[in-house]
Amino acid sequence: MDLGQVVVIDFGSQYTQLIVRRVRECGFFAKLYQPEDLDSLENVGSIILSGGPKSTSDSDAPDIDVEKLLSFGVPILGVCYGMQLLNIKYGGNVKPSNKREYGPADMLPEAGCPLFEGVSKSSQVWMSHSDTVENLGESTQVIARNAENTPVGLQYADNIFGIQFHPEVTHSHEGTQILRNFLSLADNLEPFQIGDFKNQLIAEIQERVGTKQVVCGVSGGVDSTVLVALLKEADVDVRAIFVDHGLMRKNEGDEVRKNFKEIGIEIETVECSELFLEKLEGVDDPEKKRVIIGNLFIDVFWDSVGDAEILAQGTLYPDVIESASNDKSKASKIKTHHNRVDRILELQKEGKILEPLAELFKDEVRELGHELGIPADIFNRHPFPGPGLAVRCPGEVTKERLDVIRDCDAIFINKLKESGWYDKVWQAYACLIPVKTVGVKGDERSYEWAIALRAVISEDAMTADWVELPPALLRDISNTILNSVQKVNRCLYDISTKPPASIEWE
Ligand code: XMP
Repeated sequence: MDLGQVVVIDFGSQYTQLIVRRVRECGFFAKLYQPEDLDSLENVGSIILSGGPKSTSDSDAPDIDVEKLLSFGVPILGVCYGMQLLNIKYGGNVKPSNKREYGPADMLPEAGCPLFEGVSKSSQVWMSHSDTVENLGESTQVIARNAENTPVGLQYADNIFGIQFHPEVTHSHEGTQILRNFLSLADNLEPFQIGDFKNQLIAEIQERVGTKQVVCGVSGGVDSTVLVALLKEADVDVRAIFVDHGLMRKNEGDEVRKNFKEIGIEIETVECSELFLEKLEGVDDPEKKRVIIGNLFIDVFWDSVGDAEILAQGTLYPDVIESASNDKSKASKIKTHHNRVDRILELQKEGKILEPLAELFKDEVRELGHELGIPADIFNRHPFPGPGLAVRCPGEVTKERLDVIRDCDAIFINKLKESGWYDKVWQAYACLIPVKTVGVKGDERSYEWAIALRAVISEDAMTADWVELPPALLRDISNTILNSVQKVNRCLYDISTKPPASIEWE
């Protein structure tokens, strides 16, 4: 009997890819599909319908062919929008609402339901929805309620369930257990292990590339380093080009060259910081900055590439989903990612873009790096955005501002390393707040900028929490910055979670 994949149908929730990721964490292969892909699906082991931003009553609400869905005869779980859709298909209805329930709630499961086996009698779950289920179809059973007695878990038929909350986000404390219970209802699911996935990627790369030369931009970050190492492992003819756009951290260029040398790869550096600064002059709109940097990067890059046949990018799954707008995905657009600007999309149409990591999350890429023998201190580096310090410099990007950020950032990061906090933090950086305020330096009045420090923990960059660094460490960092960096007279620590903030300031 063929092994079955876990099919996740995308109705556009920002959390949809987290479902895929959680399923893989449970050790099974999962993939995201659009509702219209249903007809062409093969080897289906179980199906999860995601949440989504639409109301089922909207004229353009995404729908799905339920007859076809049921014809696979596999377990089905509807999450949020997915549940509401199932409820309507099973003869119930959904009440539209203008008010959004967003945040934690208590979920009280009915005893004996296989979906909640091993789950506490009252379990914290994460809600993010407007519409609610009003009436149930005749055969529908309530399998969980919230503290107000509203149904938040339903069973429509044997092995067909719906839940109003999001089990995929970490704020649903026993969400992974609920998913694991659901997956255990399926027969012969295809396992997922990073080593197998690596071999699969290598085979796909070899088939796609053949003898063509692949050019690849490297930044020293985890993604591009793993990408080059993977291409090397696949025995591909690869040239690694490092575009130094001047938006890098302090001494980063030298470190990048040294790190690649350590793993046996010579990189070519293109120095073009002045060109980038020139084009960014006077621009303070974050989206415009991204587009300028993205396009210029590609221009510079292609100029140095010559007539390479394929461009490889270390794009990850969250990058793909966050840039989704008019393409097939129904997720709302959040921002344009560096590797999804128009020029890249054009090249993609011409079949010249290779993105072997596009289905992976950051920590899966690190695992892959480990599998490829990359030293831990390289793949444990904090993530760094493609547009570099430009996204940590709200307002105009100037050399003067960048230098201030670089100096403060270097102090912050070194102190985190010295105190053993660097590896406990998912990402940390300094950001310049381009507002001058009054202070006193020496005996003189100063009128200078403020610097914001941000340190977050996250699993996947989709959600993040700020880190409670010890006050003595923060004091030491702040004192060092304020005493040694010119043009800064205030140091702030960012205590915003994502959502509603994002990790970067921009
Ligand atoms: P936000 O600010 O969206 O950041 O919460 C989530 C994660 O993505 C990184 N980031 C980027 N990475 N190109 C990248 O390669 C980009 O354009 C980009 N923008 C944000 C950010 O550093 C964080 O880790």
